[in-house]
Amino acid sequence: MKEITGFSKLTKDQKIDWLAAQVSEKSAKTILNIKNYWHSSVDEQKIFDEFSENTISNFYCPYGIAPNFLINNELYSIPLVIEESSVVAAASKSAKYWLTRGGFKTRVISTTKVGQVHFIWKGDKEKLKNFFSLVKSELLFSVKDLVSNMEKRGGGILDIQLMDKTKDLDHYFQIEAKFETCDAMGANFINSVLEELASQFRSLALSFDTFTDAEKEVEIIMSILSNYTPECLVQAYVECPIEDLGIFPNNMTSTEFAEKFERAVKIAKIDTSRAVTHNKGIFNGIDAVVLATGNDFRAIEACGHAYASRDGKYRGLSSCTIKNNIFRFELTMPVALGTVGGLTSLHPLSKTSLEILKNPNARKLMQIVATVGLAQNFGAVRSLVTTGIQQGHMKMHLLNILNQLNANEEQIKFAKTYFQDKTVSFSKVRELLTSKSTLQ
Ligand code: MEV
Repeated sequence: MKEITGFSKLTKDQKIDWLAAQVSEKSAKTILNIKNYWHSSVDEQKIFDEFSENTISNFYCPYGIAPNFLINNELYSIPLVIEESSVVAAASKSAKYWLTRGGFKTRVISTTKVGQVHFIWKGDKEKLKNFFSLVKSELLFSVKDLVSNMEKRGGGILDIQLMDKTKDLDHYFQIEAKFETCDAMGANFINSVLEELASQFRSLALSFDTFTDAEKEVEIIMSILSNYTPECLVQAYVECPIEDLGIFPNNMTSTEFAEKFERAVKIAKIDTSRAVTHNKGIFNGIDAVVLATGNDFRAIEACGHAYASRDGKYRGLSSCTIKNNIFRFELTMPVALGTVGGLTSLHPLSKTSLEILKNPNARKLMQIVATVGLAQNFGAVRSLVTTGIQQGHMKMHLLNILNQLNANEEQIKFAKTYFQDKTVSFSKVRELLTSKSTLQ
């Protein structure tokens, strides 16, 4: 690879030519492959090109549907964007299972978002506190124009507070602002408001007579929303009498299943090693809906993992109880989402996803997302405590292995039948393909 300046100034074709010459002797093949994934419509491709700098192609990911989700007595088919072969199948299986057992119940607990102006200030703390209470309403007034639209939609700034952080870092304070951003994820809105608050705060301090010259100098370090939104919480749960859980593989009774499942969820609460994998299973479902609806899955993941560690130890996000013969499985976690603005209205398939989901508002989408996380977690833990995960996982993965080994149609058909009652592994599939019988 050679160094280059001005890559972003090249045309798309020039970028591809340059890159292809770097990565391969057979650059023509590389170029063809990159262009092969361009959208057939120039206008549609332009939408994707403009999402991000230096776009040269599109990276496809499967867009699947998990039907039969009963959420608060309403049926949904849920679009999922994910490459992992067994996730859509597991979500669909869990949805169907709970469909006949009352479905998923959900509720939004809170929707507050938050951001901070981080600053350094050297002086008498009491004077700063006094200054802040004197200028608080002026600060809020200064962002009146920025918040007026959000206020019309029922949101806005809920409060601003001075936070003393000097115990953690010398002279470090924050203005912490809380927001309601309605159906928007709200990142741009929050950041614009914070930057304006910071600049006003700085100039008000400069002209505050009671401050000494040194105290008049507020050093703004940064103004930014926090993706940690523990007050933007949603809950999803399923429950039913133990006997309604049914019979599981190898004649496992419903009571045996419920107790084993409960223990598995408890293990994820106490053992960090297991908790990370347990939560990864939850995010298999959550990320897939978040992506399909054009939301920011990195923000949701970062927040979810921080929330999983809120008492100082990383724990599983879901909980299971058995009380008075009722099996209950629940997930309560923060998910800050939007259904307007950002990519949600720009990506053509996000719009379609939202239509498939009956054009939910942000609160509804939070509930759908938490449901899929819970369903996915239920599916994974059910497999783990009954058949083991590999049986279902490798069945779904078989086609990937066959494609990797360039199997033809006939071999694929043969392998699918052959592995119906056998455990799939890469080497076993390769053995089968190279054996004379399958090549005939
Ligand atoms: C695989 O993508 C996810 C699981 O490992 C989750 C879990 O172990 O709970 C199956």
